[in-house]
This record gives sequence, C-alpha cells and structure tokens, in this order.
Amino acid sequence: MKLLLLGKGGQVGWELQRSLAPLGDLVALDSHSTDLHADFSRPEDLAETVLKVRPNVIVNAAAHTAVDKAESEPEFARKLNATAPGVVAQAAQQVGALMVHYSTDYVFDGSGSTPWREDDATAPLSVYGSTKLEGEQLVAQNCARHLIFRTSWVYAARGGNFAKTMLRLARERDRLTVIDDQFGAPTGAELLADVTAHAIRATLSDPAKAGLYHLVAGGETTWHGYARFVLQQAQAAGVPLKALPEAVEAVPTSAFPTPAVRPHNSRLNADKLQAAFGLKLPHWQVGVARMLAETL
Ligand SMILES: NC(=O)c1ccc[n+]([C@@H]2O[C@H](COP(=O)([O-])OP(=O)(O)OC[C@H]3O[C@@H](n4cnc5c(N)ncnc54)[C@H](OP(=O)(O)O)[C@@H]3O)[C@@H](O)[C@H]2O)c1
Repeated sequence: MKLLLLGKGGQVGWELQRSLAPLGDLVALDSHSTDLHADFSRPEDLAETVLKVRPNVIVNAAAHTAVDKAESEPEFARKLNATAPGVVAQAAQQVGALMVHYSTDYVFDGSGSTPWREDDATAPLSVYGSTKLEGEQLVAQNCARHLIFRTSWVYAARGGNFAKTMLRLARERDRLTVIDDQFGAPTGAELLADVTAHAIRATLSDPAKAGLYHLVAGGETTWHGYARFVLQQAQAAGVPLKALPEAVEAVPTSAFPTPAVRPHNSRLNADKLQAAFGLKLPHWQVGVARMLAETL
C-alpha cells in the first residue's frame, strides 16, 4: 500500500509520520519539498503530485492554522484551507484513493453547552472556521471515499504549546489569568495520529465507514482548568513554580480581545467515531499528563 502525507511537519503531521509508517510505503511532503511539490498556496501542483504518486491513501495535515492572522488574509486562508484540499480531493477521486482530512470545532458558533454532533448546524464565527468548513465540504463533495475528523485544542510534545507557555509563565510570575468561559477537550496530536491509522485500516476493509467524525479526547475543561492541571502536574513533579495552581485566576474571554472570535462551547461529541471504529477515547488528562512527563 502507498500513502501520501501532506503537511508532514505540523503537530499532527509529525505524529502521522510515525503512525502511518507501518501501514505501507509512506511519501511524506511539506511546502518545502522539491522533487514532488506540496505547497498549498499552489493548488495546481498538488494535483500533479497526487497523479505522480498515485497513492491508495492521502492524509492532509496541512492547513492555515493561524486563527487570528486569517482574519486579515482571508483569501490566503481560503486557498490553504478550502481550495487546495478541494483540489487534492478531486485528484484523490481520480486515482481512487481514500482521503483523510482534519477540520475543527470552529465550524460551530459555540452556543449552548451540549457537545456538538456531526449533523448539527454549522455557523462559523471566524475566517479560519468558515474556510475550514468550506474545506471539509469540498473534500466530501469531490472525493467519495473520505474520512474527515473534526477536532479541538490540539497540542503536541514537539514545538510550543499552551501547557509549555503556562509552565514558563508560572516560573516567571506570581499570578496567571486564564480564560474560564470556553469549554472543550485538549486533544493530543499523538492520539489523532493513532486513531487516524486505525480508521484508515478499518475504512479500507469496510468502505461504509467513510464519512465525517468528531475526534477529541474524553472529558471537558476550560483553558483555566487546563492551566491548573498543568501546574498541578508540574508541582507534583517537583518543578519550582512562582505561581501555584491555586493562584491561576479565572477571567472571561473578554479579558483577552483577539481579532478572531472563538466559540464558547467547543465540546464535540465523539460517540459516532467510537461506535464506528470500536474505540474508547481516553480522558484529556491522560494525554496531557503523558506529554508533560515527556517534556518536564
Ligand atoms: N491546532 C489546533 O488547535 C487545531 C484544532 C482543531 C483542528 N485543527 C486542524 O488539525 C489539522 C492539523 O493541525 P496542526 O495543529 O497540526 O497544525 P500546525 O501544527 O499549525 O501544522 C499546519 C501544517 O500546515 C503546513 N502549512 C502551512 N502553510 C502551508 C502551505 N502553504 N503549504 C503546505 N503546507 C503548509 C505547515 O507547514 P510549515 O510549518 O512548513 O508552514 C504545518 O506543517 C489542521 O487541519 C487544523 O485545521 C487544529
């Protein structure tokens, strides 16, 4: 089997390089690749690459993920998040490949407190959210055999992340203020990559499993709850902190104005995925504790 991974260097792309490798021959590319082109700002090149590689499976982990920056460059964000994945999906259909793509809780307006289901009405609040929604629609329309995973609050051990920022600030300051009116589940890139590999195998043997799924870690929290958990873990590991977990102050979203509006309710219901693939998604604290154990 041949797999083509696009966006190999991002949080999820990096973990996919690991989880997809045992499935077959993996061609992993990024925007800097030279022999085969995979720059999403040049969608026409992507079709050519797919036709040259002729993979059985394409996994797209590339995206314009700078949520605030997208507000000032909507056309560029649309090209990366919608036009380019649409072109890849067309080419995937042409070569008969299964296409895997990632989307976001930001396709919803964040109202209410019930975890969103796959068929709930979408109403993005930001350019990022609306371009990601258009992207998932183009993938679904252009490639019959697709897996689209909507996820939220992604972190990885590699590179910067929210937990590492909180740890740094807690070493430097006596007090931290963190938002407590946005609800969701921090989801590890490792988990996303492992579930993706499992779902690919299952869908190749049963094409009826293709479709749109919510894929997030179990449980829920706020950014404030997430920050406190991180500091509690650090404290238990003996890391010297100036700001202790109980000194993390809860503030509303309005305390930190940003160009892009974020949804308050980012809870995603992952029952459909767990039932279809026979999986149990672990609680978010399990993955965050593991990532901290690796990085502290
Ligand atoms: N991060 C989150 O909290 C979150 C939440 C929900 C959904 N998602 C979705 O999950 C997926 C993976 O996100 P992530 O967290 O892994 O994002 P990430 O770490 O920001 O990675 C994005 C990737 O896209 C690549 N990219 C950017 N511009 C490109 C271009 N012109 N051509 C080709 N590649 C380009 C980046 O490569 P360079 O670094 O080389 O530019 C990077 O490898 C995305 O679909 C995202 O929308 C993420």
